[in-house]
Amino acid sequence: MKIDVHFTPAGVGAGDLAGRGVVVIDVLRATTTIVTALANGAKAVIPAATSEEAVRLASNLEKDGVVLAGERRSLKIEGFALGNSPREMTAAAVAGKTIVLATTNGTPALVATQGGDPVLVGAAANIKALAERARAILDQRGHLVIVCGGRDKQFALEDAYAAGRLIKVIRKGIRKLALNDAGLATVALLDKFAGWEEALEGSEAAQQLADSGLGDDVAFAARPDRFGVVPVYADRRIT
Ligand code: MLT
Repeated sequence: MKIDVHFTPAGVGAGDLAGRGVVVIDVLRATTTIVTALANGAKAVIPAATSEEAVRLASNLEKDGVVLAGERRSLKIEGFALGNSPREMTAAAVAGKTIVLATTNGTPALVATQGGDPVLVGAAANIKALAERARAILDQRGHLVIVCGGRDKQFALEDAYAAGRLIKVIRKGIRKLALNDAGLATVALLDKFAGWEEALEGSEAAQQLADSGLGDDVAFAARPDRFGVVPVYADRRIT
């Protein structure tokens, strides 16, 4: 059995993921936002690689049930109804709605993993349910890929830490699990931090969010196992 981790989606080529089970993690904040939106009753989340693409995708949908959401440099995009804060994804704001979401790293990472089957959306917020689903894929296929959103095409501590936590739960009871080098590094990282909060708060992304007055989003994203949903990205939408 083998788990391959990619620290960013950059190395994932078109076709590489065909027929492979994939987990995408961008814990600060895109995948936490998506998990929260679906847990609170959103009908679907459509990830867009750019804000322009989000506007175009939304214009093809029935106006009534569609909400544009997303960020640029952490802040809500002008003219969009919602930002990229999981705290904004309340039932009142999202229940029954289709959210078209554009973020800096997370939604482009999701778009890059099209072709994976299935593509699961992961965060601390759904880690237990996610690990169960991912383990079932590993048991069945012998292989799993974890793609981190990263930050500006670079390694991001918070995503690597989340990948390590996920691997730690998935591997329970497996005698021989191979990891690629990035996977080994994510597991080694776990000893460096007391827990989710310390790891996420130590990241550059957390610093940027705190500087933008969004420190509460880091605290939200660092609380594991809030929700039992495991969003699946298929046919260009996450449900
Ligand atoms: C991303 O996609 O990189 C993040 O959502 C950025 C952010 O949280 O502002």
